[in-house]
Amino acid sequence: MNTSSNEPQSQPLTGFWYAALLSSDVRAGQMKAQTLAGLPLVICRDRQGRVAALRDICPHRAMPLSFGCFDGERIECSYHGWQFDTTGRCRDIPALVADSGVQPEKIGVTTYPARDRDGYVWVYVPDKQGVPAGLPDPPALPVLSKSYRTLHISVPLTSTIDNGLVGLIDPAHGPFVHRSPWWRSRATIREKSKTYEPLPLGFRMISHPASSNSSVYKLVGLSGGAPTVTIDFLLPNIRIETIQSGSQWFLSRTMITPISDTECRMDFCAAWDCLRWLPFSKTLLRLFGRAFLNQDTTVMGRQAIGLRHDPPLMLVGDPDAPAKWYVKLKAAYLAVQQHGGALDHPLKGPVTLRWRT
Ligand code: FES
Ligand SMILES: [Fe+2]
Repeated sequence: MNTSSNEPQSQPLTGFWYAALLSSDVRAGQMKAQTLAGLPLVICRDRQGRVAALRDICPHRAMPLSFGCFDGERIECSYHGWQFDTTGRCRDIPALVADSGVQPEKIGVTTYPARDRDGYVWVYVPDKQGVPAGLPDPPALPVLSKSYRTLHISVPLTSTIDNGLVGLIDPAHGPFVHRSPWWRSRATIREKSKTYEPLPLGFRMISHPASSNSSVYKLVGLSGGAPTVTIDFLLPNIRIETIQSGSQWFLSRTMITPISDTECRMDFCAAWDCLRWLPFSKTLLRLFGRAFLNQDTTVMGRQAIGLRHDPPLMLVGDPDAPAKWYVKLKAAYLAVQQHGGALDHPLKGPVTLRWRT
């Protein structure tokens, strides 16, 4: 596995929706600059609350549009005042005289599909074919009941997308990185076996009893019986862990969002319909979640020091098998994008892995 940033393999996949920022980060009448998968974007929300994503580069002379102003309908470039509507069309070039013969509306900025869903503004990052005609919606949070609570936490990661994702699906760092009195300790390591099955664009650790050496499962305190856990990984960047106990459930969706070649963001969203007995559950979960994610941020920041030397990396044995599947699945997806045909999924059927965590 090579995660150096100039390898095509370490580029984020195109042809997918990515969470660009939190919906609450851009209110009606506001705009915000955000690089996503290397694309410079300005994301704005019009007066009606609709979001739009434009390339954050003025077609006149490349000034980032996000330095200009937005009145809820048009973005005005800060350099020469050209105005663009949220579809990217140029609506005014103030320096031109009335009979200049120039038609501003023939000039445009590239736009990308943008939608609000589950607390994020999602932006579709197209592949070479462009935006497909029947563009699907951004992936929904797979909640298990109508009423539930949510919380969002985002933390920066100094990492390529591939290394970030390998870190996300790696089971072996848990007892070392996420060591703490309220989570678990190294002394609780024991052998486990987990069965996986393929999903169309990912794989699933099938439902199994929650491990008794992780106190978070006890904290969730589901009262409907022994909780079970299912963990999905889905291209391009999603891990979903669902804990269920009778009708009570808690799920977390974590995404490694590609920002630039060397920077990602970990976007964590929890949703739950349980913990009714626990006062201030949202505040407590936020504290707990942030501390947990900061452990990943710290370890990846430290790993980046070693990665600067571009050493070869190893994926060894069963604990690293999901990471190997990710690398193969991504390569298979890229092969389909390039040459068409069926996806050569690395998992042909259920596989049981054994490890000590
Ligand atoms: S660079 Fe934007 S108006 Fe000139
Ligand atoms: Fe982690």
